[in-house]
Amino acid sequence: MDLQDRSILLAVTGGVAAYKAAELCRLLVKAGAQVQVVLTESASRFVGAATFQALSGKPVFTDLWDARVPNTMAHIELARAADLIVVAPATAHILARAAQGLADDLLSTLLLAAGKPVLFAPAMNREMWLHPATQRNLAILRADGARICGPASGEQACGEVGEGRLVEPDDLLQDIIAALTPNSLEGRTVLVTAGPTFEPIDPVRGLTNRSSGKMGYAVARAAREAGAHVLLVSGPTALAAPFGVERTVVETAQQMADAVMAQIAQAQVFIATAAVADWRPAQVLAQKQKKSPDAPPPSIALQTNPDILAAVAALPQPPYCVGFAAESENLIAHAAAKRARKNVPLLVGNLGPETFGQDDNRLELFDASGHHPLGSGRKIELARKLIGEVARRLAASSNLIQSPPRT
Ligand code: C5P
Repeated sequence: MDLQDRSILLAVTGGVAAYKAAELCRLLVKAGAQVQVVLTESASRFVGAATFQALSGKPVFTDLWDARVPNTMAHIELARAADLIVVAPATAHILARAAQGLADDLLSTLLLAAGKPVLFAPAMNREMWLHPATQRNLAILRADGARICGPASGEQACGEVGEGRLVEPDDLLQDIIAALTPNSLEGRTVLVTAGPTFEPIDPVRGLTNRSSGKMGYAVARAAREAGAHVLLVSGPTALAAPFGVERTVVETAQQMADAVMAQIAQAQVFIATAAVADWRPAQVLAQKQKKSPDAPPPSIALQTNPDILAAVAALPQPPYCVGFAAESENLIAHAAAKRARKNVPLLVGNLGPETFGQDDNRLELFDASGHHPLGSGRKIELARKLIGEVARRLAASSNLIQSPPRT
């Protein structure tokens, strides 16, 4: 589970988005976290303590003077156990009080006394969000080391449209996991390709493959968790973009190649998980091809698509390139040969098409020193391990470049 053995103090302040904090609480518990909820007085007017108590399985605290805490120091006791304090929704008021270091209720006192990382997920009317006072307070909180998640844009409870919506609970959960992940790729840009491509034959038919995009999306998500700026170039899939990732959606291999080449100069790492069609119809028919009972089935002439990974690896100053290989037989021999042919430092062997569309996978790493199992399990767990390997190799190679020549 993503948050097994993690303790989260979930502080809910008084905005209408407080109802979404109940869903966040449920998701945190489902992800394995121990969740301690603190409500401000005004939050409890929106959602009652009983809801959070039922979802977290723990008593909820609101009062600095709560008699249930034996030493009457609730602000210290509650913060002590937490790995991370999440304030969601965070009103303009709590942002102002936290920025100024006020300590006049349980939550504000706790934020000062905690000495723990804090993530604020702001939610408020767009004018309140854009007000210079709020923006000033945010700048102070950021400078103090707080992480700010959101807000999102869209329709607001007040009827206005704009920035100020609470980030959706699923996305907030992703950002909470990221906040607890070491920033091994901080300052790096990672470009990931994912999914299948679709090569049109005519306006309704095309050639494609069974890639679901799940592995590539997991890699993009894991890179973001590790602090990277992530650019995802995706073929057609049904998946939502991972939170905080910049996605470009394409259809064909040529479009994927164009999108990659347009962005590759920014990237220090390129991870090609996409199942790019090797060939495309040489001609795309303008109208749907009609069948006729007497005519033989048409044959389709194909032409070769660009090899995106090989083209990136052949750039004069290539980023660190990682390829994927899905083989239906002889994985070890084929994958090692593919790594050499594509001239990439790292290739990930994917144990076959039977993993397409599944949540689990089994991966093998191929590098200059041979091959090593990465393990089997959920794609997101394997993606995290892969990102760990990439970060380690990248750090080792930049140490090599930066270290002074031996005398
Ligand atoms: O060439 P092959 O499909 O066997 O190699 C797979 C690896 O190459 C994957 O990393 C895939 O994303 C990448 N690839 C590519 N462009 C292609 C074909 C494959 O980037 N046209």
